[in-house]
Amino acid sequence: MSKWFPVFVSAIMSVISYFVTEKVIQKPKLKEMFVKANLFGVDLNKQSKEKIPEAIGVVSGCIFLIILFLFIPVPFGRHIIENSSFPHDEFVEMVAALLSICCMLLLGFADDVLDLRWRHKLLLPTIASLPLLMVYYVNFNSTSVIIPKPFRPWVGYSVHLGIFYYVYMGMLAVFCTNAINILAGINGLEVGQSIIIALSIAIFNISELFGEVWKAHQFSLYFILPYVGTSLALLKYNWYPSRVFVGDTFCYFSGMTFAVVGILGHFSKTMLLFFLPQIINFLYSVPQLFHLVHCPRHRIPKHCSKTDKLVCSVTTFKKTDLNWLGWIILKAFKVLRIIDLKENIGEDGKFMECNNLTLINFILLWIGPTHEKKLCQILLVVQVFCSAIAFTIRYPMAWIFYNP
Ligand code: UD1
Ligand code: MG
Repeated sequence: MSKWFPVFVSAIMSVISYFVTEKVIQKPKLKEMFVKANLFGVDLNKQSKEKIPEAIGVVSGCIFLIILFLFIPVPFGRHIIENSSFPHDEFVEMVAALLSICCMLLLGFADDVLDLRWRHKLLLPTIASLPLLMVYYVNFNSTSVIIPKPFRPWVGYSVHLGIFYYVYMGMLAVFCTNAINILAGINGLEVGQSIIIALSIAIFNISELFGEVWKAHQFSLYFILPYVGTSLALLKYNWYPSRVFVGDTFCYFSGMTFAVVGILGHFSKTMLLFFLPQIINFLYSVPQLFHLVHCPRHRIPKHCSKTDKLVCSVTTFKKTDLNWLGWIILKAFKVLRIIDLKENIGEDGKFMECNNLTLINFILLWIGPTHEKKLCQILLVVQVFCSAIAFTIRYPMAWIFYNP
């Protein structure tokens, strides 16, 4: 059986998954069901206060899982029919990957229903990644990292990271799941960015199918193709003006899918390169995420009803609430001109104000008031541009740094 056959079947099943997901989401009954279960949100950037069903990512996620369950016999069925030696290691990898994704989908849905606290958001992906790490340990347990050429005289050809490699992989799952969730809040952005990351991974996998480690990339494609299929259908309804919200369910499910293919496909560092906007957004958000600067419940841009455009949202806080570290960071951001900081405001000048520290607000800071749809398109172009940078780093640069 050619290595292309299962990929081809997976591609066909992904097209089917698109139409199935679309059919399910468009059902008016679905909206009723979600609203009745109190799973709805109000679009903060619109004047209408209509109830929009939330957590619809659970629909695309479930269809993704069903498609993958149905797909399992395709790469493994041949061994049963031909009575040849069954690749138990590959099979357990697939099942563990599905278990981790399934687990994350459930935990994401629990978050949407129960509105979990931030510490749970860090704990849940760590727990969901355990089956994956266990399989990695049993199947590979390779924790060595190849050192770039310029550092080899000091460090050697490779270093064994041991337990730290597992900590890194656990953290990768936490990062991927949360990074998408915090670059969110405008119509189409959560799904849009995830699809661009998934397509970048797919392009990378397909190009690597011609290489030596094609099996790992073939494995990754089994997950990424149906993911793209189901998410495209979701994007159709989440695109401006959103008729459904994807919820934290989708962000967690997506992050875990990327972490799974990155870890078991052995390209976690390349995968992180596709997360460049999310990394920038995370680093920029650090002062608010770690509560050095006041962090409101929503950091999304503010809607101006007169112009129907979005403007930077701000956070206002007492000067005395800011500790020395927060103070230094804000000053540094000001010197770097990446923040709009106003000091001594309020009647008695005891307050400070700055833009909410997200990439979305940062772009608004530069380009001024923008329509929601256009802003989302700009952010998605940035994501595509960063993928192009990622490929430039991955291929030409890696050749210079790692070529023996
Ligand atoms: C994260 C962000 C928060 C952002 C929110 C938006 C951090 C620390 N948290 O919180 O700043 O405001 O995502 O998703 O960065 N919504 C819209 N339009 C959209 C998408 C969402 O108005 O296109 C609103 C809806 O009211 C929806 C709500 O956001 O119900 C969902 O927010 P939720 O996913 O619960 O927020 P968090 O993930 O906790
Ligand atoms: Mg969210």
